[in-house]
Amino acid sequence: MPITTCIFDAYGTLFDVAAAARQAAAEPEFPQLRETWVELANHWRLKQLQYTWLRAITGAHADFWEVTQNGLDWALEATALNGDPKLRQRLLDLYWQLQAYPEVPAMLHALKAAGLNTAILSNGSPDMLDAAVQSAGLGDVLDDVLSVESVGVFKPDARVYDLVGARFNCDRDEVLFVSSNGWDAAGAAGYGFTTAWVNRAGDPMDRLPWTPQHVLSDLTSIPDLAGN
Ligand code: LAC
Repeated sequence: MPITTCIFDAYGTLFDVAAAARQAAAEPEFPQLRETWVELANHWRLKQLQYTWLRAITGAHADFWEVTQNGLDWALEATALNGDPKLRQRLLDLYWQLQAYPEVPAMLHALKAAGLNTAILSNGSPDMLDAAVQSAGLGDVLDDVLSVESVGVFKPDARVYDLVGARFNCDRDEVLFVSSNGWDAAGAAGYGFTTAWVNRAGDPMDRLPWTPQHVLSDLTSIPDLAGN
């Protein structure tokens, strides 16, 4: 079946999750972050994701905002930056206005011009996602923003991927699913979507039973992939 529907992961795929720590590190109030912001950002992201997987496996769901704060608190302690409530608050505030990667607006415009459905499917809570979409100015080029909160479990649970067919009334093989998270691209491939893994960092492929059909270094070729 031809692709009719392009679905994007949010954090790390459309929005640069390292931008919060990078931006705070450039502000004069937080000189302590200059040496450690990369380590902090990496710990924050990894713990945030680990907590989503563990909560999904154990049925102990909490929304992504709580998990994001839990991950940050672990990361601040691990980098000995946990004594500054202003830094914590600044990092959390910046998470609501993350920058989109530079190619994102033109890529989404091209998909809409080609008549494709476009949406986000994310672990993010609806209010976090709305804030990110508005601050990046993407509201006009996305048909919808689907959050795991409507099923109360995180990716890669199949109930999350089911939201796409329910919203767009499409078969799995009509969907191009795009994620920078190797585990999410693998999970979506296992579910039956055509998947593209956006591997900006040149990471190794995750060793999982499913592999994405496409591996890209950024999002610029998505309209071409979707047109095939
Ligand atoms: C999301 C996370 C996994 O947006 O990046 O769903």
